[in-house]
Amino acid sequence: MNGRRRVEIFDTTLRDGEQSPGVSLNVHEKLEIARQLARLGVDVIEAGFPVTSPGDFAAVQAIAREVHGPVIAALARALPGDVERAAEALRPARERGKGQARIHTFIATSPIHMRYKLRKSPEEVIELAVAAVKLARQYVEDVEFSAEDATRSDPEFLARVFGAVIEAGATVLNVPDTVGYTTPAEFSRLIRFLRENVPGIERVKLSVHCHDDLGMAVANSLAGVEAGATQVECTINGLGERAGNAALEEIVMALRTRADFYGVETGIVTPEIYRTSRLVSALTGVMVQPNKAIVGENAFAHEAGIHQDGILKERTTYEIMTPESIGLKQSRLVLGKHSGRHAFRARLAELGYELGEQELQQAYERFIELADRKKNVSDRDLEALVAGAGSRATVPEEYSLEYLSVVSGTAGIATATVKLRRGDEVRTEAACGDGPVDAAYRAIDRITGVHVELDGYQLQAVTGGKDAAGEVVVRLKEDGHIFVGRGLSTDVIEASVRAYLHAFNKLLAARREAQGTAAAGGQGATGSVAGAATGKETGERATGTEARS
Ligand code: KIV
Ligand code: ZN
Repeated sequence: MNGRRRVEIFDTTLRDGEQSPGVSLNVHEKLEIARQLARLGVDVIEAGFPVTSPGDFAAVQAIAREVHGPVIAALARALPGDVERAAEALRPARERGKGQARIHTFIATSPIHMRYKLRKSPEEVIELAVAAVKLARQYVEDVEFSAEDATRSDPEFLARVFGAVIEAGATVLNVPDTVGYTTPAEFSRLIRFLRENVPGIERVKLSVHCHDDLGMAVANSLAGVEAGATQVECTINGLGERAGNAALEEIVMALRTRADFYGVETGIVTPEIYRTSRLVSALTGVMVQPNKAIVGENAFAHEAGIHQDGILKERTTYEIMTPESIGLKQSRLVLGKHSGRHAFRARLAELGYELGEQELQQAYERFIELADRKKNVSDRDLEALVAGAGSRATVPEEYSLEYLSVVSGTAGIATATVKLRRGDEVRTEAACGDGPVDAAYRAIDRITGVHVELDGYQLQAVTGGKDAAGEVVVRLKEDGHIFVGRGLSTDVIEASVRAYLHAFNKLLAARREAQGTAAAGGQGATGSVAGAATGKETGERATGTEARS
């Protein structure tokens, strides 16, 4: 025992993180992330907001059933219908026994939110908060209450609300900086004030939840910990609404690297950080900026000669934490086209990836294709290849690429010929476009007979070097729902086509799933086609319509 106070990590990547613009995960992807979060050792996984859509409900239910270890939390406004829906989605975890499920209920407490959004008086807000907590306690022992927009609330009123919900049975109090407005010193003062003025606060957990609108989410969260918070809410890669939430990896590594200063510890298995970051980036399609702290590509790269010299003489001259501590393995090996399935599997295992048989087979086939073009396949390439392999294996490859040829150049119009297989049928089409990628996408649309909106396209090199593989992320939009696809190849046009097909196959799978649910007379019938599969229903975000009664 080192005598350090334990701070719990509450991950909300799947709830607040998923509220990022353009991010939409299906149930399989959420499950894959939740399993990885369990490996990472988070204390709580906020799996979703069940009342918002059938897809969100299904994701929370699946995670509550299949992911064991962390407490599984579900969000609910302070309304009976929300709380009941959250309790229902959490049923599998509740049935496993005590302490496995948490209902997280919230209502806004700032004058601006109470007056303009809720149109409720402070007394009515207290009543709703107390009633929601009491109702939640009928289902679970672990009830978290959040005072939305706490940092713009009157501290005296906040203390009253918190005192009332503790009496009603809340076990965790959360202090959100909903709009990323506070500063470290001010937030720390607020946390201390609450600790001194809320009756019974010593019996419950005290949590902080910060947004990054002014770039201070991590600093504010750490100030909260210094002031006595015992739980921090955060997301992988700082994903989240607007500028995002506090980044889990930054908070955890700050607490670990500066344990001498903070004097606290977390239960996070830090060597799982890098892989978790890659997985979330792969499945959400939100790439991590190269200079992002902890998980950015350059976070451990030393470019300046003086720094390199220092590092060679003594690592700690310029390195305050090791790449290994976040699971970033030094790229030693290289696999090539003669590497067999066994070597492939063994290397993945060394990197910490345990794939099922079907996932392994699919990943191996993609590896062989890559190795055919690229002499040396590095660890980074392998990671790009297998990140998200679990949920990829659940998407039937309805359309697959058989052949691609493009003609483009500085003069003339780009043209593409694409041959796709769908079951036993093989079809070829050619098209012109504004560049080879556009031409190829038009040819695909001709084959499938579906024109989908391209909402986003990103390309980045996985490693350095002229033979680097290009990783393309494509975002397709239908009915307001986003489908993210990824493709990898040394040929960036091919990677672009593979990414497009991956996203398109996901869209088709979502349509089928929705039709199946509708035919079965289930909840999908009430949502949009894609909503049943992605967890987001068209235009309806319960967060924005709080206290709809
Ligand atoms: O930012 C916020 O206020 C929230 C609450 C629902 C906790 O996400
Ligand atoms: Zn939030």
